[in-house]
Amino acid sequence: MKSHTLLMPLDMHLHLRDGVMLETVAPLTSYSFSGAVVMPNLVPPVTTKEDVIAYKKRINAALGRVEEADDVLMVDDFFEPYMTLFYQHYDREFLEDVVDDIAAVKLYPAGITTNSEGGVDSFDLETMRPTLEAMSDLNIPLCVHGESDGFVMDREAEFMSVYEMLASNFPKLKVIMEHITTKEAAAMLDRYPNLYATITVHHLLITLDDVAGGMLQPHLFCKPIAKRPKDRAALLDLALNAHPKVMFGSDSAPHPQHAKEACGCAAGVFTAPIALQLLCELFDANDKLDNLQNFVSDNAQSIYGICPEFKEVVLVESPFEVPEHYGSVVPMYAGETIAWSISNVE
Ligand code: DOR
Ligand code: ZN
Repeated sequence: MKSHTLLMPLDMHLHLRDGVMLETVAPLTSYSFSGAVVMPNLVPPVTTKEDVIAYKKRINAALGRVEEADDVLMVDDFFEPYMTLFYQHYDREFLEDVVDDIAAVKLYPAGITTNSEGGVDSFDLETMRPTLEAMSDLNIPLCVHGESDGFVMDREAEFMSVYEMLASNFPKLKVIMEHITTKEAAAMLDRYPNLYATITVHHLLITLDDVAGGMLQPHLFCKPIAKRPKDRAALLDLALNAHPKVMFGSDSAPHPQHAKEACGCAAGVFTAPIALQLLCELFDANDKLDNLQNFVSDNAQSIYGICPEFKEVVLVESPFEVPEHYGSVVPMYAGETIAWSISNVE
């Protein structure tokens, strides 16, 4: 049986939510990943040092860990939640105080996606300059949800001018184009040395046809929405060849079934428990398994300058039947069989 071993997989863009949902989904990622960059779009969003520390504590508690006086006790597996702050116009003093508790700051254009109402409503350079200069000096990466408020299929391409403005005015600031979905974003990557990108597994597999070409598929609906075959081809070229400025970020975004199968479907595809299996299947089918380690871990380690705890994940080419539900959440490919499964984690 064909097998493939991954060391310290990292998910560089993950939604863990809070409360019961956090308890359901956090162990599904911590099982097979060494760490994940945790998105701050809670209600209300994560905007203070106290918010960051308290949320990290709740994540650790959801993983069955007990914290005492800043030390995490009872660690049953190795998993690091890399925390983020929701972008606001923060001052330098605040950022200096919080820098050791966060991996990045996540910027959302106001109202563009789930829980982003408090995001940025105008990309005015001078308004943003103090925050971005301080982030640049403190080496805090800026993760960006890059969509305009234009026509849905053009939103990401229209946002490229903002990426250019950010990358050129703050050449030492690491700007990460999150969950890219277009050939325009793929092409932008090499134009600025300080631009990076994450790519999800679902955007490597589906196009808009899979979402809305037949019967509407709410569990494949997300923002940014999947685009055209030529866009997917550009993403595949980056991921399968493990472009050094590209990292895996699942953007696994759980919503309860009733919020997805509804009039007014919430945006988000839940892939956390099947992401590595799908990636193995995809890279194997393209004869690129040797590049998967860079895509799911090594590139991210270099870009973020992180050194995760050791974890070895063995995958095998053996069918895995995707459960219909994880708690209240329906995963991508629910009830279907995928070709690879996880056989061992150490
Ligand atoms: O589809 C999405 N879901 N895109 C986002 O940007 C946010 C996410 C969520 O939080 O549900
Ligand atoms: Zn996201």
